[in-house]
Amino acid sequence: MPITRDIALAARQLREGKLVAFPTETVYGLGADAGNAEAARRVFALKGRPANHPLIVHIGETRRIEDWARDIPPLAWRLAERFWPGPLTLILKRGRAPLEVTGGQDSVGLRCPSHPVALDLLRQFGGGIAAPSANRFGRVSPTRAEHVVAEFGDAVDTILEGGDCTVGLESTILSLLGDPPVLLRPGAIARAEMEAIIGAPIPGVEPNAEVRAPGLLDSHYAPDTRLLLCGAERIATLTAGLLDRGRRVAVMTRTLAPDDLPPGVRRHAMPTEPSDYGRQLYASLRTLDSGDFDDIIVEQPPDEEPWRAVNDRLGRASHGNFPSVT
Ligand code: TXA
Ligand code: MG
Repeated sequence: MPITRDIALAARQLREGKLVAFPTETVYGLGADAGNAEAARRVFALKGRPANHPLIVHIGETRRIEDWARDIPPLAWRLAERFWPGPLTLILKRGRAPLEVTGGQDSVGLRCPSHPVALDLLRQFGGGIAAPSANRFGRVSPTRAEHVVAEFGDAVDTILEGGDCTVGLESTILSLLGDPPVLLRPGAIARAEMEAIIGAPIPGVEPNAEVRAPGLLDSHYAPDTRLLLCGAERIATLTAGLLDRGRRVAVMTRTLAPDDLPPGVRRHAMPTEPSDYGRQLYASLRTLDSGDFDDIIVEQPPDEEPWRAVNDRLGRASHGNFPSVT
């Protein structure tokens, strides 16, 4: 079992070009020395990720931005000062970051994570750590060390134990390549808080925009089991129809009581607060995915700003699946 708490060992392995999975406050990352193009290539190979999809470079201190990016706008420093360490990734012009890390793009994603184990690892390692989420391409991100084991087993040299991720959803990604900045991926950081620093509204990414971000693929973060999003008022009918056809059904719900659902359904209760929900989402999807279900029905959260990141991930996880009974 490659799980360890030995941060010095993990730092040494990064220096040797090995891969180290490590905790961040968002999700676990699959890390490699960001200055080592060969190690970065191994990350892509292990993940099964297309080589043109860039990795985020994790840094331990804000001033390290200059190690990897160039022509850094003053706004980058202001955002970093406000939100780092924390779940915000900034896309900047590429400086010395290897093209293998940036997926061949002349830009680089940078983030200073706030998890104490990640910060200690970065401090002891001394460089930047290129890391995507530590899951196979297109799958649900890991929020516990054991999830990383389930994804990769012994194929990763070391998995640093850091407990459950406190945010549980991937970082907010903001591109500062143009003016105004563009939101590429919603996360835990509220849009209004960023707009307060920027002093202007932030547009979301245009559909079909030429941005190579796997998180932007329609189908992503998906479990194996079919996932259906459904309004609370229709869940009982939908579920009954599926059960009639002999399907095994789990329902992830925030508001429905056991009595609201037909017998024979596995009810999985979810938190009512968006941040609690986000923290628990991926672990819940994994639990239900490994149960013997044909369908996971998820009660659609409100279409409101605090639920934006959760709704984004649920929308992708259920992409292309339509309830056959309405
Ligand atoms: O919270 C997170 O961001 C986690 C932890 C480990 O830090 N990492 C993560 O990495 O979610 P990944 O690779 O699964 O998703 C990173 C996203 C991808 O959609 C990637 O394309 C985008 O960041 N990204 C990275 N560099 C970029 C760049 N130069 N331009 C556009 N998008 C970029
Ligand atoms: Mg990912």
